[in-house]
Amino acid sequence: MTLTPARTAATPFPDGFLWGASTTAHQIEGSNVNSDWWRKEHDPPAKIAEPSLDACDSYHRWEQDMDLLAELGFTDYRFSVEWARIEPARGYFSRAEIAHYRRMVEGAIVRGLRPMVTLYHFTIPQWFADLGGFTADGAVALFARYVEECAPIIGEGVTHVGTINEPSVIAAMAGLANRGEQGFPPAGLPFPDEETMHALIAAHHTTNRAVRAINPDIHVGWTISNQVYQALPGAEEVTAAYRAPREDVFIKAARGDDWIGVQSYTRTKIGADGPVPVPADAERTLTGWEYYPEAVSRAIRHTAELTGPSTPLIVTENGIATGDEQCRIDYCAGALDAVAACLKDGIDVRGYLAWSALDNYEYYEYYEWGTYKATFGLIGWDRETFVRPPEPAAHWLGGLGRERVLPRL
Ligand code: BGC
Repeated sequence: MTLTPARTAATPFPDGFLWGASTTAHQIEGSNVNSDWWRKEHDPPAKIAEPSLDACDSYHRWEQDMDLLAELGFTDYRFSVEWARIEPARGYFSRAEIAHYRRMVEGAIVRGLRPMVTLYHFTIPQWFADLGGFTADGAVALFARYVEECAPIIGEGVTHVGTINEPSVIAAMAGLANRGEQGFPPAGLPFPDEETMHALIAAHHTTNRAVRAINPDIHVGWTISNQVYQALPGAEEVTAAYRAPREDVFIKAARGDDWIGVQSYTRTKIGADGPVPVPADAERTLTGWEYYPEAVSRAIRHTAELTGPSTPLIVTENGIATGDEQCRIDYCAGALDAVAACLKDGIDVRGYLAWSALDNYEYYEYYEWGTYKATFGLIGWDRETFVRPPEPAAHWLGGLGRERVLPRL
């Protein structure tokens, strides 16, 4: 079986182009017992499909994971540090966990992987959730204090730091919870909790400064989920109004940052009455999202329009939940063609990091964790032994990194 799609002329990577894969602590480390999600996973009324438990035990096996990525040809690895481990009780900072994440940073560097570190990727400590999360009194200052305590982790050798991952999804989840609604709508995102939205933006700006104070050479940004809202004929205004509080507000808040992360997987069509569910006959991925490799270029172009030319873009997540490796390669090849086209059009895209390095604890039914059934990984793993064989797509994508080219154009 030939797994490499027929590609002819290739686009060389621009200098310094980031070529990697992304993960986050809760979805791969296992036993994140002091986090809000761990508690939720073990709370029967929350009806979570399955708990994360050991995940793929990357907390103990990170060296193996980094070895694989480096051997495959990747030069960048995005991972997150876990607030619930670093500050498991309010004001108590674990020196052991800080040392653990510092070892990861150094482990990446010695393997030739540039570490991109996310400070907050969806999970918060239980004590912070109990205070009321980001809208509690003093919450932004508490988050900033945690970030300052991360100085020994990120102070040297870390090129990129992301403050908060997908604030739009966090604000949407808060909106859902505050209104007592169950589950996501069949299409689109719930209306965000506006207080959470403002708090997250304030937290981003505050910690952006805090990271620069730790080391002014670190490039700081945040990573934004892009749902690629597409207006059906006549619904342009409805679409713009729908998108503004769910996406644009967070993209605009990145103006002046060192970079912005673009994360996209699929699209959402909007009609006169709002989001339109994906038609029954559309090709779907294991998360139920429409198969739509062009999503990433739409996302890049929309982001660039809003931030302007002075904010470089990095694709920090893009990929597909599938059990079919040829389909994963086709999806990524389509997405990379689109990235190459954006570069050709002069858009300042500085990197592509696939989601995800490993199969991980994922979404089901839109945006609620968790299941291990939605396999996004370039590297799979055995549920009993944790043995991790790279999938064919990993060899293909990593190989492009070794050649320093994007597939076509
Ligand atoms: C999130 C990841 C998630 C991925 C794929 C993004 O929204 O940042 O945590 O696993 O999408 O579902």
